[in-house]
Amino acid sequence: MQEKNDNLMETIISLCKRRGFIYQGSEIYGGLAGTYDYGPLGVTLKNNIKSLWWKKFVESREDMYGVDAAIIMNSEVWKASGHVETFADPLVECSKCGLRVRPDQVIENKEEFLEEKNKWIEDVVNKTLEEVSNWHNEIESILSKIKPLYDSISEEERKSFIEAISPTIDKVNSMLQKSEKNINLAKFILDELSKSDKYIGFITQYYLNKFVLCPNSNCKGHDSWTIPRMFNMMFRTQIGAVEDSSATVYLRPETAQGMFVNFKNVVDSFHPKLPFGLAQIGKAFRNEITPRDFIFRVREFEQMEIEYFLRPEDWEKYFEYWKNEILEWIEMVGIDMSKVYELEVEGADLAHYSKRTIDFEFDFPFGRKELYGLAYRTDFDLKNHNLSYQDEETNTKIIPHVIEPSLGVDRTVIALLLSAYKEDKSGEEVRPYLAFNPTIAPVVCAVSPLLKNKPELREYAHLVYRMLKDEFGRVMWDDNGNIGKRYRRQDEIGTPWCIVVDFDTLTDNQVTIRDRDTGKQERVKKEDIIDYIKDKMN
Ligand code: GAP
Repeated sequence: MQEKNDNLMETIISLCKRRGFIYQGSEIYGGLAGTYDYGPLGVTLKNNIKSLWWKKFVESREDMYGVDAAIIMNSEVWKASGHVETFADPLVECSKCGLRVRPDQVIENKEEFLEEKNKWIEDVVNKTLEEVSNWHNEIESILSKIKPLYDSISEEERKSFIEAISPTIDKVNSMLQKSEKNINLAKFILDELSKSDKYIGFITQYYLNKFVLCPNSNCKGHDSWTIPRMFNMMFRTQIGAVEDSSATVYLRPETAQGMFVNFKNVVDSFHPKLPFGLAQIGKAFRNEITPRDFIFRVREFEQMEIEYFLRPEDWEKYFEYWKNEILEWIEMVGIDMSKVYELEVEGADLAHYSKRTIDFEFDFPFGRKELYGLAYRTDFDLKNHNLSYQDEETNTKIIPHVIEPSLGVDRTVIALLLSAYKEDKSGEEVRPYLAFNPTIAPVVCAVSPLLKNKPELREYAHLVYRMLKDEFGRVMWDDNGNIGKRYRRQDEIGTPWCIVVDFDTLTDNQVTIRDRDTGKQERVKKEDIIDYIKDKMN
C-alpha cells in the first residue's frame, strides 16, 4: 500500500515536471527547498481555481467585498495579531549532524507517541506504595531534568498546558481513593509539570530519543535529539536603508490580516450591514522548518481567505453555514469527496486566535493531512487592532466576531491532481489521464490537423483553432507526432476534448471531437463546435 502511494506521488510529480505544470524552484541552481515554480499549465490551473473561487465567494454574493492588500505590512500588525509572540513551531535538532526538523514530522506513529506520553503520567499515578518508595530516586532525577525548563514560562503557557493535560488531572483525581502518599507524589509531579508548557517538549525529546533515528541517511543518529525549542515562522526583512529593529518588517504568514486592517476602510466606503465578509487571494510566506511533500508544505504559497464578520450570538449558525460552503466548494472544484474528512481541532492544537476550528483533511498518499481550515476567530483580531463597528440596527458600537474559511491554493492543486489522476487499462497498454472538471482544466480543447504535412488540413485546422481560441482562450494547437500520441499527451494534461480536422472536413465542414474520459468520437459541424463545448462545460 505504502509503495503504491509513493508511486502515485512520484507519478504525479514526474507528470507535473514533464508536462509543464510544476517545476522545482530555482532548479538550474540546484533548487531552493520549499519553493516551486508553476509552469504554463500549472499557472493556468491555479488561475482557474482562483477565478472559480472568486466567482463563487465574491462575485455571486451580495455580502462580500474583495481586497488585495500589500504583502509587507507595518510590523505593529503582526504584534497586534499575536504572530510575533506566538506564530511558532517546535524545532528539534539532531546533535550529531545538525539536522533540524519539526518533531511531528519525524514521529511516524502518532498514536504510539500519545500512548507513551500518557503512559508516562499513568506510571506515576499507578505505582503501589512500595514501588513509589523505590521509585523516589527516579522521580527525583526526572524532576531535576525538568527543572531547567521551568525558567521562562508565562501565565499564558501555563494555562494552555493545563488545558492540554486536564484529562490527566482528572485521572489523578480519580486515583485519590487509592493511596494518599501515592497521590500526593503524583500531584506534586503534575503540579510541577503543569507549570511549564515545555513538559510536552520534554516528553517529545524522551520519545524521540527512545524511538526515532535521525532521518539523515548519512547520520541515522540515535539518542541525539535536543529538547524542542520554539521557532518563529515569519520571514523577516528590513525596509529602507537603515538596518535597525525599527526597520524590521515581515512577509505576511497569512492573508487574513490584510482584511482586518482594511475593515474600517471598507465599512467607511460601503457601509455594509452585518453579516458581511472581506475576501482576498494572495501569497503567504512561512519559514517552514521542514517543507515537504511536493507543494503540500512550502515556504511560499497562496491562500484564498474570507473573514466573515457577524454578531457574536450568530457565530454557531454561520460556522455551520461556512462548513457547508467549503464542502460545496470541494465538490464543485473536483476534489474527491470520498477522501475528505472533517477534524475537530482540540485544545492546545487550536491556533492562538481560535475558539473552534475544523480542519478539512484529505487522504494524501503521504497521509491524511490538512487541506483547508475553518476557524471561529471570535473578536480576537478586531479587538487587538482596536477596531469596532457602529451597528445601526441596535444603535450600539460592537466588535463583530469572525468566521474564517481559509483555503490553500497549492493544496487545492495537489488534491485536484491526485483526485483527477486515472489510469485506463486495455490489454497491455495503460492510458493515464487527468479527469479535470472542464472549468478548471488548463486546456479546454486541443486542435489538430490529421496530418501535419498537408497544408490544406493545417489551414482549415488553424481557422478552427483561432475561432476556439478567441472564444475560450485556453486552446492548444497540437500537431506533434501521430494522432494517437497527441491523444495520449492531451489525456495526460487533462484536456477534455481533442478536435481533429481530416480530409472529410474539407468537404462536409465537420470535425471529429474526441472525449477524454470515454474516448468516444463525434462528428460536429464547424459552426456548432463552440455551443457543443459550452453545453458540456455547463
Ligand atoms: N488565516 C488562517 C490560516 O492561515 P492556516 O491553517 O495556518 O490558517 C490555512 O492556513 C491554509 O493555508 C491551510 O489549510 C493550507 O491550505 C494552507 N497552508 C498553510 N500552510 C501552508 C504551507 N506551508 N504550504 C502550503 N499551504 C499552506
